[in-house]
This record gives sequence, structure tokens and C-alpha cells, in this order.
Amino acid sequence: MSDLLSVVIERTGSFLEEMPKSLRKKKGQFFTSRETAVFMAGMFDLSRLPEDVCVLDPGAGSGILAAALVDQLNQAEHIHRIHLTCYETDPEITPLLRKNLAFLKRRSHIPLEYELLTGDYILTQQHDFKGDLLAVPDPPKYDLIIANPPYLRVTRDDPAALAMPTVVHGAPNLYFLFASMSLFNLKPGAEMVYIIPRSWTSGLYFLYFRRYLFSVGKLTRVHLFASRDKVFKEEEVLQETMIIKVKKTSDAPKTILVTSNQSNGDFHNITSLNVPYTSVVAGKDIYLFLPTTAEEMAVIHKIHSYEHTLPEEGLRMRTGVVVDFRQGEDLRKEPGEHIVPLFYSQHIRDGRVHHNPSGKDFDWIVDEKPGLIQKNKNYVFCKRFTAKEEHRRLQCGLYLAEDFPQYRFIGTQNKINYVDHVDGSEMDIPTTYGVYALLNSTLFDVYYRVLNGSTQVNSTEVNSIPVPPVEKIRQIGQRVKAAGDLTTPACDSIVIEVAYA
Ligand SMILES: C[S@@+](CC[C@H](N)C(=O)[O-])C[C@H]1O[C@@H](n2cnc3c(N)ncnc32)[C@H](O)[C@@H]1O
Repeated sequence: MSDLLSVVIERTGSFLEEMPKSLRKKKGQFFTSRETAVFMAGMFDLSRLPEDVCVLDPGAGSGILAAALVDQLNQAEHIHRIHLTCYETDPEITPLLRKNLAFLKRRSHIPLEYELLTGDYILTQQHDFKGDLLAVPDPPKYDLIIANPPYLRVTRDDPAALAMPTVVHGAPNLYFLFASMSLFNLKPGAEMVYIIPRSWTSGLYFLYFRRYLFSVGKLTRVHLFASRDKVFKEEEVLQETMIIKVKKTSDAPKTILVTSNQSNGDFHNITSLNVPYTSVVAGKDIYLFLPTTAEEMAVIHKIHSYEHTLPEEGLRMRTGVVVDFRQGEDLRKEPGEHIVPLFYSQHIRDGRVHHNPSGKDFDWIVDEKPGLIQKNKNYVFCKRFTAKEEHRRLQCGLYLAEDFPQYRFIGTQNKINYVDHVDGSEMDIPTTYGVYALLNSTLFDVYYRVLNGSTQVNSTEVNSIPVPPVEKIRQIGQRVKAAGDLTTPACDSIVIEVAYA
């Protein structure tokens, strides 16, 4: 391959030597590695392109992605002209970008024109996006868009967030404002390839973005990086990252190709799986399920064989109420009158909840404030935070009121979640065991990991998982209790036999 990208990468290296990382971090500026850029540029379907191709690289940095795509286009015989547009606001990098664009124009086999826009990608187009009075009647549209957008949280009253209210719901991040704008910038039927964090695939904050994305376009390909710490090799970006290809169309494909690589930078050893579109994009909150193996796919299939969620079966996961560092005056190191146990995630062990105070920590809380305590009833506790290297995301413990008969109330720290009846009545013992067995099963743990790539367990997401009817949950519970074995293998066999055989 005639390799324009190599020159751009080399020049970027010199820029990096002079520009401190801390400064670039503030601007959300991280550069794509050579291997990733080539992989991304290779994801487009070039066969359907017109002779004159309009290409956009918003937030172009030094032009790495643009160069990788120009290399790719130079190999497509039916293309006669490339119109390349780059947006970049950082005055520190625009001289290098300008130099690299001039180089691409000089050296591309196919005639190339370029335009470098130094205005803000979001703000300069906000009226077009909103379709308001100041909108350009016929804004430019593109055949191909390739981007590594800035990863930068902004406040809800940031001009960029205010510019795109339809996609903002909760804490906005520039990366999904860019992705939405790019979808808007595509011609009908055209494709964009974006490298973005994985956070948008679940969770309420990104709901409006997902709604926009899936109403205006359809996901056609996904690439997952198995380990998050090496995508931007030199850059040390600790973000779970993915590459998506989105087509501007209302027709969903039958399947989505989900690929993943084990060691980053090595795009030669790729695992690939064709997953039915309806298995990837599912639920009323449009969550994304991204299996990378046939086993994970089978798990999704099994869980989706039920329709109702925990709340629809009268049960709900909630988050513990005590934010201990804010409630210092109510916490105690010793038990006493009007003092009740406060439960932390470290009390969840081997499937049970053990309140074994060390005497050093604040393991107790006064029972005076109703908002800080809850009835001593049967619950299933679940850790909210787990470490990346831990085997399971869902780590649960059975909490039985009868184990703590001396208390009417207890406290739960907000680093645990707990399952309770929606109406506040007490779960009976079989239901409690049954919920525990489901959450402690391999099936649910794998499902949750496919749904949410992060290490946190979010109660809203658990409440969206389809579960068997409550009668079956009770049956599972009766069997698990009778077996007297709370381990995952024991739960697995009973859960499968009763509800998923
Ligand atoms: C994550 S970097 C990626 C750079 C390049 N595309 C690459 O892949 O190497 C994002 C770039 O977007 C630029 N940027 C940030 N906000 C912008 C905005 N509102 N409009 C245009 N460019 C912006 C940053 O200066 C930065 O160079």
C-alpha cells in the first residue's frame, strides 16, 4: 500500500514529544494508533460509493484517520475524486493538520481537495441540527465520516450540550454530541465509523443519544477491544473503547458483525460473530448487547426467553441509602441502645451477609432518622463495585432477617444494592433464595457483563433484565434452600433446570 498514513503518524510523533499529555487531556485530545486507524478505514463498504466522494473527519487532530481513509480510497478504482473536510479547533495542532492535508493532496493518486474548518464542529452547525430559523437551507452532507471524537464531559449548560438538546439526558459528553452531529451530516444510506467509549451502550444518561442514533441510523458493525488499557498505546487512555459503524437508514440489517481482538494493536487475531440485530439492540431503553462468543450469544437468547423484568414481577433492586462520609454524626463504632447494624459490601461473603465488626470501622448507625434506616426484612444484597480482575460482576449475598433477630431496622451503605418487594412488603424465604440464585448464576453474570462493560453494577440495568415469573423464582429458591448449597455451580444447575431447560 502506498502509505500516506506513515508520514502523518511520524509527524504526529514529533508533535507529541513537544506537547505535554496533561494539556492534551484537557482538550480531550488523544491520537489514534496506526493499527486502529487502518482497521477503522478498512471497515467502510467502498463499493457503493459515487465517483466523487465527500469525506469528513471531525476533530481531526493531525489527520491520522483522514490519511488512513485516503490510503484506503486510493485503492478503489471506481473513485475519481475525493473532497475531504476536516474540523479542528485546537490552534496548536492546526498548523500540522494543514501541512498533512497539503501532503495528502500532493500525494494522493486520486485527485483530492480539502477544506480545514477551524470552527467548533458542534456550535457552527447547531442551527442546522436543530432545524431552526438560522439553519443553512442545504447543509453539506458526506458519503463517509471517520472520527475519533474528543472524550470530554461537559456540563448540561455547556453551549455544546445546549446546542443539541434532543440527545442530552443527564451528563453530556462531547463524544456522543459529535457522533449525533455526524449522523446528521451523513447522506442517506452513507456510513460513519467512530471509535468511542463503551459507556453509551447502556444506562439512562445515554438514552436520548441511543434513541436518536437508532431512529436516524442503524448499527451495522461493532468492534470491541478485549482489554481497555492499550487501545491508545502511548496515550494510556483508561476507557473501555469500541469501534462502531453506523449507516444512515431506517432499515435494520438482519445481523450485526461483532468482532473483538484479544491483544490490542493486533488486528490479525480477530474473533468474529454475526449476531441477530434484535439480539444486539433490545429492550425499551434500547440497550446494546455485545456478545463476542457463541456461548454469550446463547445466554442472551436464554434470558430473553422471558419478557417480564424484576419490577414487573413485583421485585426491585435499589441502591443502599447511607452515604457514610456524609452521615458521620450518625455513625457509631460500637453497638448500643437505638443503634443498628450498618451493612457494607465487605459484609457480603460466600453468598451470605455477615455483620462482623472490627471495632475500627463505623459498623453501626443510630436509628433516629427514618431516611437512613430500613426494616429488618429479607433482602438480597449485591455489591455495586467490583474490581476489573474479579471473576464476577454480580456478587450477591442472602440477607435473612432471622439472622439478626434483635433488630427492627438496619442500615445499608450506598455501595451495595439490595433487592426488595416493590410494594415494601417482605419477600418470603423461597423468593429471597430464588432471587439470590438467579443473580448468583453464571447465566445472569454473563448476561450482565455483555450488557455493561464497566465494573459497576447499576440497579436500573439489573431491573431491566428479563426474569422468570415469580412462582418459578420461588421454586428455584425452595430447591436451593433444600440443597443447602449457595455456590454458583449449585445455583446454575437449579436455575437452568427449573427455568431455562
Ligand atoms: C480524540 S482527538 C482525535 C484526533 C484525531 N482524530 C485522531 O484520531 O488522532 C479529538 C480532536 O478533536 C478536537 N476537538 C475538540 N473539540 C472540538 C470541537 N468542538 N470542534 C472541532 N474539533 C474539536 C481536539 O482538539 C482533538 O484534536
